[in-house]
Amino acid sequence: MVNLVIDGKNIEAEAGTTILAAARENGIYIPTLCHHESLEPSGACRLCVVEVAKGSRKRIVTSCIYQVEDGIVVDTKSERVLGVRRLVLELLMARCPKSDVIRTMAQELGVAPEKRFLPDKDKGKCVLCRLCVKTCEDVVGASAIGFSFRGKDKIVGPPFVEDSKACIGCGACAYVCPTGHIEMTAGNGGSERTIWGRTFKMAACSVCGRYFAPEDQLQFISSKTGVPLEDLMVCMSCR
Ligand code: SF4
Ligand code: FES
Repeated sequence: MVNLVIDGKNIEAEAGTTILAAARENGIYIPTLCHHESLEPSGACRLCVVEVAKGSRKRIVTSCIYQVEDGIVVDTKSERVLGVRRLVLELLMARCPKSDVIRTMAQELGVAPEKRFLPDKDKGKCVLCRLCVKTCEDVVGASAIGFSFRGKDKIVGPPFVEDSKACIGCGACAYVCPTGHIEMTAGNGGSERTIWGRTFKMAACSVCGRYFAPEDQLQFISSKTGVPLEDLMVCMSCR
């Protein structure tokens, strides 16, 4: 076990735990945007920064990837920490002026849109956190989306910004997206689902008749697991 102090509280944490996890286990709040419990952290948004003192040396680290160490003293709300978080939020607000999630976080920290960062008009609510891409690759195994272009033009979506043949319409990317950037809509009485500009036919449960999953998703699961497609045509409630 490792002994450390977070915001004046003595804490014992397992070696290998991140500062973020240790703080959360002890009821200490650190804001996050690109963190999801089920996925490897990427340290993309930098909102979770904290200040770590080790001996006489202090530095700002990213708490979702920095592991606990014996004897460190962590401050989650120092002036330096709040300054970095404010700057991150000013940049995020300029990139995604329409994001309610970011606006609310900014309000909590008393951050207003900064005039020196011109608002972006065409990036929607995407903060390039990569959660959707990692979910599609590592959890679903479809690898249907990724990043296109570079620098300020970077966007997320299917390759070449065209309909992705690899997309199975599962909607896992929309579920994990922290800002609601990915639009997923149901149509035609629930018999269709549209996501990333492509419309999927939904399968109806063979017991209750309710539309419950895209046919492409069920075919994908069947091909990966070897379970016959007919056995997958029953919704969770009727199993
Ligand atoms: S679409 Fe959402 S989950 Fe994907 S990178 Fe953008 S903000 Fe993150
Ligand atoms: S939550 Fe740690 S960098 Fe985004």
